Amino acid sequence: MKTTLTLIAAAAFAATLATGAHAQEVQVVKIGHVAPLSGAQAHYGKDNENGVRMAIDDINATNPVIGGKKIKFEIQAEDDAADPKQGTAVANKLCDSKVAGVVGHLNSGTTIPASKIYNDCGIPHVTGAATNPDLTKPGYKTTYRIIANDKALGAGLAFYAADALKIKTVAIIDDRTAYGKGVAEVFKTTAKQKGLTVVDEQFTNDKATDFMAILTAIKAKKPDGIFYGGMDAQAGAMLRQMDQLGLNRVKFFGGDGICTAEIAKLSGGAKSLNNVVCAEGGASLKKMPGGEAWKKRYDAKYPGQYQIYSPYTYDATFVLVDAMKRANSVDPKVYTPKLIEANFTGITTKIVFEPNGELKNPAITLYVYKDGKKTPLN
Ligand code: ALA
Repeated sequence: MKTTLTLIAAAAFAATLATGAHAQEVQVVKIGHVAPLSGAQAHYGKDNENGVRMAIDDINATNPVIGGKKIKFEIQAEDDAADPKQGTAVANKLCDSKVAGVVGHLNSGTTIPASKIYNDCGIPHVTGAATNPDLTKPGYKTTYRIIANDKALGAGLAFYAADALKIKTVAIIDDRTAYGKGVAEVFKTTAKQKGLTVVDEQFTNDKATDFMAILTAIKAKKPDGIFYGGMDAQAGAMLRQMDQLGLNRVKFFGGDGICTAEIAKLSGGAKSLNNVVCAEGGASLKKMPGGEAWKKRYDAKYPGQYQIYSPYTYDATFVLVDAMKRANSVDPKVYTPKLIEANFTGITTKIVFEPNGELKNPAITLYVYKDGKKTPLN
């Protein structure tokens, strides 16, 4: 009996060696992604998700081995609908699903409350889109951002308005979200420091479509420019309504939230699109280390879906996997401490973090729309 068992065990061992079964064992590791995939911001969310999917495909194609196991990465894609409550619900879901890391979220309004949840459950998240400076204030070891924040975007736009365009008066509108309010506040403070006069402040929300009343109030104050803190669905409609009110000589400033390909469509041929100056928290595709070649591959894979943040969500995925490789573990408790030591050249830039999880030395780029096409100024 004993001999038989030994023989069976030996045969099984030999079979294992012959097929290399241990080496073939594949561990599936999930990476969460969160962005709005429904509602008026779904086009940003889809673009972000595409960036993660493309990164995962590229990483899997290298047959990664971590901790002695072959790893197959998979995305767990979630929709927070740009809604803070849904954002926290989805963050809890990703904690329960035990994803290894999260790329997201897209909106500051969802990312800030979600960051506490990820910190509590010990899963790191890297955003390539949320720009409110408050995100990194708590100093969570699980929160990372790989683009410039709104201190840079709001100030950069105010400097450009004062120094390059030499305008004297502005009106400010924001959508009362964490992002819109925050970036408008930075713009306002810097604009005043630069000697501009803020002639009016108006408020809206991230679902609004009719801005005739607030634009009419602003028109009466005759500003040289309007700053809008918010996203492109509202900005696009505002540009159309500015045309209707004869405001198409007024400059229109905004942060990354309005700096999409989609705003050209959303503004529906409004002349006011020619007056847009927007800021994005990274280099232009042309100046990114791998930008243009990457964009060609992206367009071939996801035609017509490029908006703004997919290069960053692509790099964010690599940053997570790079930390796993350096820790030789896909366990967030083991690899999270390695994130802060990142020194990773992605397609967007060289990613090195400040102690609070902000990107070291981020670029910012200002854009205008020429013949309806988003065009970098620097
Ligand atoms: N940058 C925008 C935000 O933080 C998308 O909400």
